[in-house]
Amino acid sequence: MNLEIQGKVAVVTGASAGIGFAVAEELLANGARVLIVARDEGRLNQAATRLISGAPGHEKNVIALAVDVSRPEAAQLIIDQAVGAFGELDILVNNAGRAHAGGLLTSTEQDWEEMTGVKLTSMRRLCRAAIPHMQKTKWGRIVNMSSIGGIYPNPKLLVSHVLSAAINNLTKSLALEVAKDGILVNAIGIGAVATDNWANNMVPAVRRARAEFKDLSDDEVVARISAECTPVGRAGSAREIAAIAAFLASNRNGFVTGDTIEASGGADRFM
Ligand SMILES: NC(=O)c1ccc[n+]([C@@H]2O[C@H](COP(=O)([O-])OP(=O)(O)OC[C@H]3O[C@@H](n4cnc5c(N)ncnc54)[C@H](OP(=O)(O)O)[C@@H]3O)[C@@H](O)[C@H]2O)c1
Repeated sequence: MNLEIQGKVAVVTGASAGIGFAVAEELLANGARVLIVARDEGRLNQAATRLISGAPGHEKNVIALAVDVSRPEAAQLIIDQAVGAFGELDILVNNAGRAHAGGLLTSTEQDWEEMTGVKLTSMRRLCRAAIPHMQKTKWGRIVNMSSIGGIYPNPKLLVSHVLSAAINNLTKSLALEVAKDGILVNAIGIGAVATDNWANNMVPAVRRARAEFKDLSDDEVVARISAECTPVGRAGSAREIAAIAAFLASNRNGFVTGDTIEASGGADRFM
């Protein structure tokens, strides 16, 4: 399917790895120009190099900006950089973030502050900064990465799932606010997808809860948990999520807005 996004300008946050990288790759392959964002500059530049080498002749279509999206000035900086470099802003993929394993009683004030900052606060600020540019052209697409737990909460991931529910709600309300401007806003309710996020944030919690996994490698733990909690019997891949995001972000999507697409292999929880 031709996504009809040739020349469109996209910002993808959290694009140095995992799902964000796969989204940037997909948009680039379809002719978009992409500004990628993450904190670790070295890893981000390597990601930009990999993107460019996968799209020969389109070196000028990728730029990288190393910034923490939760910083107050980050959203405006990111959008200004994209518009300054490419002249417009059409697509925003709010993907930066991670999972936080724990319940209410085991989560600290700092956990809430950090997680809210990187997920919800950065998302609303980036939408706020991006939308005026989309209104000018009467065309825009916003995709917010959420979690399946925003619909089916799991107390073992309480902070992440409360924030995911808020993201779904923001997505729906914002979609209604800007629908008349040709801007479509959707979220993806992601289930278990094997990325660094799983290895770094989920596997340690799973190991604490499941002594029988002590001799398994991280990959084996992810495979076992994913098979247990996902009806399709495996974790998803970043590319599978990117395919959905790219469609939602494209001109081929004209009628889906305010929705949270469940992309979880049929699972209603993932731990
Ligand atoms: N994988 C899953 O199973 C799953 C399930 C549900 C929801 N999700 C959501 O999907 C999104 C992508 O997850 P993933 O699995 O692809 O994670 P990942 O592989 O760990 O990649 C996360 C990306 O976000 C960047 N990032 C993290 N914090 C940031 C910050 N404050 N500012 C800027 N960039 C930041 C990371 O780079 P730096 O560390 O260098 O900043 C990296 O590029 C996340 O929002 C996650 O919560 C994932």
